[in-house]
Amino acid sequence: MIQLYWKNCRSEVVGEQHGVTQQDLEKLSDAMTAAHKAVQSQADSGTLGYTKLPTNKEYSQQVKTLVDKYRGKVTDLVVLGIGGSALGNIALQSALNPLTYNLIDDATRPGPRLFVLDNVDPALVGEMLAFLRPRLKTTLVNVISKSGETAETASQFMIFRDMLRRELGEGFAKNIVATTDMAKGTLNKIAKADGYDMLPVPDDVGGRFSVLTPVGMFSAAMCGIDIAQLLAGAQSMKQRCSTPQWRQNPAVLLAGIKFISYLKGKVMDVMMPYSNRLYLLADWYRQLWAESLGKATDRAGREVFAGLTPIKALGTTDQHSQVQLYREGPNDKLVQFLEVAQQPQEVTVPAGFADVPGMSYLAGKTLGQLLNAEKVATEYALAFSKRPSVTIRFDAITPHSVGEFIYLYEMTTSIMGELLNINAYDQPAVELGKQATFALMGRAGYSEMEQKIKPFASVDKEFLV
Ligand code: PA5
Repeated sequence: MIQLYWKNCRSEVVGEQHGVTQQDLEKLSDAMTAAHKAVQSQADSGTLGYTKLPTNKEYSQQVKTLVDKYRGKVTDLVVLGIGGSALGNIALQSALNPLTYNLIDDATRPGPRLFVLDNVDPALVGEMLAFLRPRLKTTLVNVISKSGETAETASQFMIFRDMLRRELGEGFAKNIVATTDMAKGTLNKIAKADGYDMLPVPDDVGGRFSVLTPVGMFSAAMCGIDIAQLLAGAQSMKQRCSTPQWRQNPAVLLAGIKFISYLKGKVMDVMMPYSNRLYLLADWYRQLWAESLGKATDRAGREVFAGLTPIKALGTTDQHSQVQLYREGPNDKLVQFLEVAQQPQEVTVPAGFADVPGMSYLAGKTLGQLLNAEKVATEYALAFSKRPSVTIRFDAITPHSVGEFIYLYEMTTSIMGELLNINAYDQPAVELGKQATFALMGRAGYSEMEQKIKPFASVDKEFLV
């Protein structure tokens, strides 16, 4: 189970200027209730796609059918995708499998090695090609793209398809699963023509909300993650977030705290897991929060330039790189700690150095104790400098608690979108860069854009020092 602990963002701890007061909450009470009502009615009427996922049996069954077909026969699974078509896969794998997962031998590992190629860095892709070439027969490529023609995924797909075709011959299609729109799109057409197994990306679920669809669930299930528990966790959070009593509703309360903090200048939104396993959930969250809430206009078309910049930090590592800034720099951050009561592994510091005070106090203590003590110490140190924080407490890192986490933050994003009065489900500002890339790479139909981008396409030596 996960819980929101919010004592240390309150004015009683960090003062009225930076903390959430009782009056702030009372003042926002009607808006929180209205925001919840709006989101809940979209969920109840089935118009908010991601809220239907925790109880969707069809997608789990489609995933299971393909997992039964491939698991055990495949040594390596390569996911080709980017943004919402990759970040959830990475987050689930790193949270729910050992950090050494890919190094475990074939006989012991619960599934294939997993590589998620979420970039077109030629070194990354080239090194992967060299690694996989000798084992292509037992490599499965899962190409994921909702639109079916994102440049990064399309280029990776062309490279991998070409290699599979050349090395495996006509049967190469058996080594590709395409996760895409089932009715339309470029990838859909190619997948059907080539004869790949296919999994759906639901039409009504945006990329950054799609981790609990086959987009995220196929690679997770292939690697032995219990997706039924993941969905059960999401469902239990969905129930907790259905109460109109905002004090009992973790998503509404968290969004309310973030909104009040935002009005008090907390435009930076730090997620700081005290757990390496949970660190990449912060990457998933950064996309969800940034793309959903960073908007130029509100729903009435007025310019608002809304948004909070999500920042990821790792405890304790970033205590030694970031906390100086968080405590003494601008007081513009709300820190969300992620804390784990029962770590997946425990390690005890052995006895020794009994006569060295700088070491002996650690003897017999577990690293989990030290990690959590450092978290409390940082929480205290921030509060001492009047810096607000909240904590998401995990009793343990399980598919259930990670499912709860995913749903909590998706719902918090929806509620925050209501409070900010913006559309949390589009991403108009991403388009221009995509079109400019098409123009630079010579795609037909982008000549006008080619002209516009000319001043940026060559280096002006006058400004080169
Ligand atoms: O959240 C989003 O919409 C984006 O991050 C997309 O997921 C990303 O651009 C990849 O798009 P697609 O799945 O269409 O290739």
